Amino acid sequence: MPEMRESSLVVVANRLPIDDSVAPDGACEWRRTPGGLVSALHPLLRHTPATWVGWAGGTGPAPDLPDVDGVRMRSVPLTGDDLRDHYEGFANATLWPIYHDAVEQPEHHRRWWDAYQRVNQRFAEATAQVAEAGAVVWVQDYHLQLVPGLLRDLRPDLRIGFFLHVPFPPPELFMQLPRRAELLRGMLGADLVGFQRAQAAHNFAQLVTKVLGLPATDRRIAVDDDRIVRIGAFPVSIDSAEMSALAARADVVERARRLRHDLGGPDQVILSVDRMDYTKGIEQRLKAYSELLEGGHVKVRDTVLVQVAVPSRERVGQYQILRDRVEREVGRINGEFGRVGEPAIHYLTQPFDRAELAALYRVADVMAVTPLRDGMNLVAKEYVAARVDDDGALLLSEFAGAAAELPQAYLVNPHDLEGLKQGLLAALRAEPADVRARMRAMREQLREHDIHAWARSYLSALDQGGSLLTRLGG
Ligand code: ADP
Ligand code: G6P
Repeated sequence: MPEMRESSLVVVANRLPIDDSVAPDGACEWRRTPGGLVSALHPLLRHTPATWVGWAGGTGPAPDLPDVDGVRMRSVPLTGDDLRDHYEGFANATLWPIYHDAVEQPEHHRRWWDAYQRVNQRFAEATAQVAEAGAVVWVQDYHLQLVPGLLRDLRPDLRIGFFLHVPFPPPELFMQLPRRAELLRGMLGADLVGFQRAQAAHNFAQLVTKVLGLPATDRRIAVDDDRIVRIGAFPVSIDSAEMSALAARADVVERARRLRHDLGGPDQVILSVDRMDYTKGIEQRLKAYSELLEGGHVKVRDTVLVQVAVPSRERVGQYQILRDRVEREVGRINGEFGRVGEPAIHYLTQPFDRAELAALYRVADVMAVTPLRDGMNLVAKEYVAARVDDDGALLLSEFAGAAAELPQAYLVNPHDLEGLKQGLLAALRAEPADVRARMRAMREQLREHDIHAWARSYLSALDQGGSLLTRLGG
């Protein structure tokens, strides 16, 4: 492949911000992919002369992609075996469950590890080709933990950052990984390793000492080649101004009004928006709602639940089982408590555009975000940003990274069914003045800590003394 060194900022993530989908008229179109990583980085890079190295979905040769808002797309191909063993296997059936408290059983297969190494090598090589001399390269997330180390071997001139969007687990869980040393060494190829929370940085520091014998504090690790790797917490965020502006648009306000009407004009709308993932606590939430209906605490005509659950990682067994169980439970609840024209739960599995999501947020009196474990949860932040009217109650799991920044939410432990039911009732019955005071406080926090503040703090720590921030408009 020819040398194409083209960018001084390269973002490397398993997923590109677009994938191909079929438009209603049958044509192929590029559509923004749902998921927190893309939601965070997409607004950030817009109109920045950067390259995004990633996978465009599907298998076969890497497609030639158009620039997206001025950002070059450089696709890395995955074969059918890579998809199965790297993406669905090691990334999403070994690492994902281990990093999320093992709420589902992680699986270990040697073949998956081979694929993980192979695909990480391919990403490192693609990145080495597009990065200008001395470029800043920002590697994202658990699919690519070996890339910092591999890339440093190929291109020692680069400044390399790594950011993990998901939780980094406590040592007793991470220690289960057969290839724990290699994974840690891969991350230590970076100059700066960023996590969502300070606890994660602490877990990492403990592990590099325990597994690799390296001296480490929660801020600095001395590695063998005489480098210092810095680590720290950089809680990711959203483009809150953009979401607020969208939610204030007249057509979105009108759409929200229409949605409430179409929902039968209930007194209260509860909304949940999740990828269909077992970490999101969807089943626990449905159970809580069902028991509230059964106990007569909420009534179908007065209250509706809208559950948006966009299918995700659909060929992974645990995700298939989850979808079946959720759909069975939604069917049962609607069968038992709904009436003709009045379902208890409006269940939607479609991807929506940003304006439709904003309208949904505006119609939600209670936003129920109750994951069992979540690195951050950007849906919670999107909801707050969308409530330009300072109204709306956020029911939030203590186990979402967002809870540390939004303590004014109605916090619940989703593992505690009674607590979840009480939390939901508290949010539904809260005094309007209390709801507004909490929402105002959360909005203020989010205005200051938006995606641009996140990028500034991470990149200034990575690019010490460099000119990258000026170029990003920071
Ligand atoms: P995760 O990163 O685990 O998917 P987050 O809550 O952090 O969870 O991010 C999810 C992102 O995906 C949000 O930006 C949300 O708006 C988006 N999203 C979720 N469901 C949909 C959907 N049905 N259509 C479009 N975007 C969605
Ligand atoms: C989470 C992960 C991202 C991932 C997203 C969507 O946000 O941290 O890396 O892109 O989920 O999942 P998917 O498997 O569809 O990329």
